[in-house]
Amino acid sequence: MTTALETIKKINPAAYPKHVGIIMDGNGRWAKQQGKPRTFGHKAGVESVRAAVRFAQQHQLDVLTLFAFSSENWKRPEQEVSVLMELFMFVLTKEVKRLNRNNVRLKIIGDVSRFNDRLQKKIAESEALTKENDGLLLCVAANYGGRWDIANAVNRHIEKTGCTTLTEEDISANISLAEFTPLDLIIRTGGETRISNFLLWHAAYAEFYFTDELWPDFREESFAKAVQCFSLRQRRFGLTGDQVENA
Ligand code: IPE
Ligand code: IPE
Ligand code: MG
Repeated sequence: MTTALETIKKINPAAYPKHVGIIMDGNGRWAKQQGKPRTFGHKAGVESVRAAVRFAQQHQLDVLTLFAFSSENWKRPEQEVSVLMELFMFVLTKEVKRLNRNNVRLKIIGDVSRFNDRLQKKIAESEALTKENDGLLLCVAANYGGRWDIANAVNRHIEKTGCTTLTEEDISANISLAEFTPLDLIIRTGGETRISNFLLWHAAYAEFYFTDELWPDFREESFAKAVQCFSLRQRRFGLTGDQVENA
């Protein structure tokens, strides 16, 4: 049987998404299936992050945005939140040199001011170390909420200009990732078909791909299936199918 990884090699790379966002869901259920604590699933999910980054690099994505921690995830049990924070710190410490060697630029979006000083410092250092890299932009959404992002964009615009009547363009210019390739595809693992406050503004014309696979099981082949599916979509942006075909 041909794998999706083989199939997408035959697709014109122009049909690949350039910016993919992933809602990495299902760690807790993955762990539970094995009779392990939820945090075991979060730790296992790190290997899937590595695989997704590898895939993104090998398939010439401009941007990979990973939803790591939502602004609502603080409501989880304290012990789980604290393991997630430690894991974030651990992964940054362990991986950032390798990312840098691979010409990856790392960027964190979200309200980082709620993290402890140690983590904030690590984030700033990691971003500074990789900021000149012009390969993949790896964006991690941490303490991120799409609504927060929109409110923040409005406030930034008001601070800069004093104008309180905003256009769509004003928000687009001040939203996270404004300067990078627009979002093409959102992948959500774990079987839920919702956006959970991820990139709300950016999602306006993104394609969605949902899979039941739990995040720790999501590997290159799974990513390739999503890309294959994306490549078959017709994005119309409000036009008719004929208009798009004749353009
Ligand atoms: C996603 O997995 C990771 C985070 C939200 C941090 P979950 O922890 O939500 O896993 P499930 O959905 O409970 O299985
Ligand atoms: C979304 O997953 C957030 C991340 C993957 C980081 P959740 O597990 O928090 O989403 P809900 O609560 O099921 O909507
Ligand atoms: Mg979940």
